[in-house]
Amino acid sequence: MLVFDQKKEIKSFLHQERVKNHTVGLVPTMGALHQGHLSLVKKALSENDLVVVSVFVNPTQFDKKDDLEKYPQNLNKDLDLLISVSNKIVVFTPSVDEIYGATVKSQMYEFDGLDKVMEGEFREGHFNGVGTIVELFLRTASPDKAYFGEKDFQQLQIIRKMVEYKNLPYTIVGCPIEREPHGLAMSSRNERLSKSTRKKASFIYTTLLTAKEKFGTESAHVISEWVKSQFSKNGVLELEYFEIADEDTLTPMLKKQANRKYRAFIAVYADDVRLIDNLRLN
Ligand code: PAJ
Repeated sequence: MLVFDQKKEIKSFLHQERVKNHTVGLVPTMGALHQGHLSLVKKALSENDLVVVSVFVNPTQFDKKDDLEKYPQNLNKDLDLLISVSNKIVVFTPSVDEIYGATVKSQMYEFDGLDKVMEGEFREGHFNGVGTIVELFLRTASPDKAYFGEKDFQQLQIIRKMVEYKNLPYTIVGCPIEREPHGLAMSSRNERLSKSTRKKASFIYTTLLTAKEKFGTESAHVISEWVKSQFSKNGVLELEYFEIADEDTLTPMLKKQANRKYRAFIAVYADDVRLIDNLRLN
C-alpha cells in the first residue's frame, strides 16, 4: 500500500492516475479507524478506481488542548486495517508542519449560520478548522467524490456549503451512521470509555429512538424537556445539548412544517469524553 506524507508527492501520483482515466475517491479521517470509517472507505471503493484515505489529527479543529492530546493515535494499526480492506487504497498522512508550516491557524469561512448552532456553539472555532483542513485535502487530492459520515451531520452540511460557496468541483457523498451492537454510534473516542460506560452510553441512542417515536405527537419543546429529564436521572452521562433541527438549515424546529426534514442532535459527556449522535425524525 502506498503511503504518502508530502502533498507534492501524492499530487503527482494522483495526476498520473488521472492520466490513466482512473477515478479517485477521498475519505478524510483523523485515524483510530473503526468500522464507521471503513464503511466510508468501502463505499468509496465501490464507486472509484482508487481511494485516498487521509489520516491526520487536525490541531486547528480542537477547541480544547486536552482533547487533542488525548485523541487516540495508532498509525500502524490503521495501516494494517486498510491493507486488509483493499489494495486500491492510498494513504496520506502528513505532519502538522507539512500542512500548516509555521502558522497553525484556520482560515475563516462563511457557512451561512450552519456553524453557529450546536457543535459550533459549544466548540469555538471548530468548523473553521474543519473547513481549512477539508478544503486543503480536497484541493490536494482533487477527488471525483469525497465521503463523509452522517455521524457528524453538521460537519457534512458545512462541507457541502463550503464546496458550494467556493465552487469546488467535487461531489460530496454522505454515508449512514455505523453503530456498535448496543446502538452507540461508533467513534474513535469510544476507545477512551471504560467497558461499563461504553455499554451505558447506548442510552444516547435509545433516547434518540424514543424521541423519534414522540416526534409524531409531541412538540420539539416537550421532547427536549423529556430528554433533559432522562439525562438528569442518569448518573454516568451528562447532557450538553439536545436539539431538534431542520436538516438543511440546522435551525431549531419551532413549529413543524410540511415538506421539511427534521433530525434530533445530541452531545453528551461520558467519563469526560464528549460523544455526539443524531437521528432522522421524519
Ligand atoms: P473522524 O472523526 O476521524 O471521522 C472521519 C469520517 O468518518 C467523518 O466523515 C465521520 O463522519 C465519519 N465517521 C465517523 N464515525 C462514523 C460512524 N460511526 N458511522 C459513519 N461515519 C462515521 O470527522 C473527522 O474525522 C474530521 O473532522 C475530518 C473530516 C477528517 C477533518 O479533520
